[in-house]
Amino acid sequence: MSKSGNTNHSETLVQSALSEAIGSAPPSAGKFKIRVNSLIPDRPTTFDTFIMINGRMVLYLRAGDKLSGNKIAHLQRADVFYVPDEQRAFFKRYIFDRMNEAELDVKTKANVLRESSMTLAEEIFEKEDVNEALADSKELITNFVEFMEQEPAAMSHLVGLSSHDFYTYNHSLDVAIYSLGLGQVAGYSGDDLQELGRGALFHDIGKRHVKAEIICKQGPLDDVEWAQMQKHPQYGLKVLNEHGASEAMKACCFEHHESFLGNGYPQQLPGNEIHPMARIVAITDTYDALTTKRSYNEPMSPIAAVEFLSSKLAAKYDPNLLRALNSILFKIKPAV
Ligand SMILES: [Fe+2]
Ligand SMILES: [Fe+2]
Repeated sequence: MSKSGNTNHSETLVQSALSEAIGSAPPSAGKFKIRVNSLIPDRPTTFDTFIMINGRMVLYLRAGDKLSGNKIAHLQRADVFYVPDEQRAFFKRYIFDRMNEAELDVKTKANVLRESSMTLAEEIFEKEDVNEALADSKELITNFVEFMEQEPAAMSHLVGLSSHDFYTYNHSLDVAIYSLGLGQVAGYSGDDLQELGRGALFHDIGKRHVKAEIICKQGPLDDVEWAQMQKHPQYGLKVLNEHGASEAMKACCFEHHESFLGNGYPQQLPGNEIHPMARIVAITDTYDALTTKRSYNEPMSPIAAVEFLSSKLAAKYDPNLLRALNSILFKIKPAV
């Protein structure tokens, strides 16, 4: 090996030791995630797409390259690609154009919207800065509200796309989508629907202040852990108060564990005093929990979950909203 080669090699070693010591940026720095399913078959991309291989970012598609439907289906196991932050506007435009294609059916549009929103929701929940998270949530929820306004059948397709995963961002996104559906049947529209969607998205934000061991515990919580967990509505209210969230959003967060029986937490409010939007989140939160797969229990099917809610748990919830949930999930004529 030449002298200069040795020098370069030792410089590299020194550099890597230094970056280890001072903490180097992760390989995904400067890039945002997109789901593989966000790519449109046989359509040239308008942005560069990277893939992570053994902890290194590798350019997979250059802007203008395209993938076949088969290849996208095959790549689903890879789950995420990465796009440079500076090309975010190109990616948004690519999704926007897809959502506005006249010939595309509602079901595919619902899928495109949900796939592109999953990574946005994940980003929102990874943000330390709550102000930024709250601001970014407007765009996320607006996309859904606009889709629902354009396509009367939007919700019946969206509710079928739940990932049934237990990650906070999946749960929160699913609760937001179900809440928008219930809210629409209950007569909300425009800004009100948007506030409901954002309130539902952040209903569990107080869990940021509950210890991770409790949040991630696989199995039932003991009394001390349960008492901690039950504080998340108060913690959430404090966070949302500090960041100027609306009264409706705060109610969705602070009152989503109240019960029509008056024995919920933290305030034991009687049913008629529970904020109407919080009543919606109370139902959609439980429905999502029942249908979500966890390591220690099997998820219920949608029909079993609704039956359970409408029988064993019925007294805890607004009866009109329970009927509305049924109508959305099983496309029965709205009951509210
Ligand atoms: Fe909660
Ligand atoms: Fe929740």
